[in-house]
Amino acid sequence: MKVLAENEIRPVPTAIAEGTETLIRVEALHKFYEMGDTRVHALRGITLEIRAGEFVTIMGASGSGKSTFMNLLGCLDKPSEGHYWLDGTDVAQLSRVELAQIRNERIGFVFQGFNLLSRTTALENVELPLIYAGIGAKERHRRSREALERVGLGERIDHVPSQLSGGQQQRVAIARALVNNPALLLADEPTGNLDSRTSVEIMQVFQTLNETDNLTIILVTHEPDIADYARRIITFRDGHVTRDQPVARRRVAREVLELMPQLEE
Ligand SMILES: Nc1ncnc2c1ncn2[C@@H]1O[C@H](COP(=O)(O)OP(=O)(O)OP(=O)(O)O)[C@@H](O)[C@H]1O
Ligand SMILES: [Mg+2]
Repeated sequence: MKVLAENEIRPVPTAIAEGTETLIRVEALHKFYEMGDTRVHALRGITLEIRAGEFVTIMGASGSGKSTFMNLLGCLDKPSEGHYWLDGTDVAQLSRVELAQIRNERIGFVFQGFNLLSRTTALENVELPLIYAGIGAKERHRRSREALERVGLGERIDHVPSQLSGGQQQRVAIARALVNNPALLLADEPTGNLDSRTSVEIMQVFQTLNETDNLTIILVTHEPDIADYARRIITFRDGHVTRDQPVARRRVAREVLELMPQLEE
């Protein structure tokens, strides 16, 4: 048998170009929840890699472990067994303080329910992570305004959440997630509370961030047509990965929006 030289070995095809660095690597990841006498085995050995600049969707039935996995990736919780390397750092070895620091500096979160402070303006909501990071007022305003402009909300910075539509509130939440310039954006059912046109508008924001800024995005959804805006779909079932494939026919939000009817005001 001919032995291949190093430069002859064919690279494994992945959803994104070769040469891009690995951002996330998890190996034999398990998560148990102890509840009294019962033990829920929510993740049962997840092994996968996500490269910088990927846009990944996670799908799967309710209870299959998607949010549990996102919480581990987001350093909100630690695995019961297995390894998680974020940009080469073994997360399991970190203290609580170091975990909080990684969360604040490297990771942005977006949730289904927006999670905005209700009596606080869009600008102030976006500023919050910068306050935690100890950034001064002037720089905070500048960066928050810029983050709101990136999501197309530059005109609404003084509105409180009740004066904004659902889609606009989710844009504020995305701006808040971006304001620290994270390496990774995690979104758990970000379109779950939105109508179909607004959902596509939010997917357009994510596609732009991924393509223009090369932001790595991992998004959970139940909706197959939302999943098709990503580049790769990972399917969970009972705490296992059952499928991991590139998106065959990727949707482009900008094109879909052009064909969709405008909502009546
Ligand atoms: N904090 C917790 N304590 C105990 N069990 C939990 C906890 N969080 C999740 N679980 C259990 O772990 C399993 C996976 O839950 P998880 O929330 O990750 O599912 P999911 O795929 O996000 O579901 P959904 O689509 O409904 O959001 C479920 O059986 C759930 O009941
Ligand atoms: Mg969930």
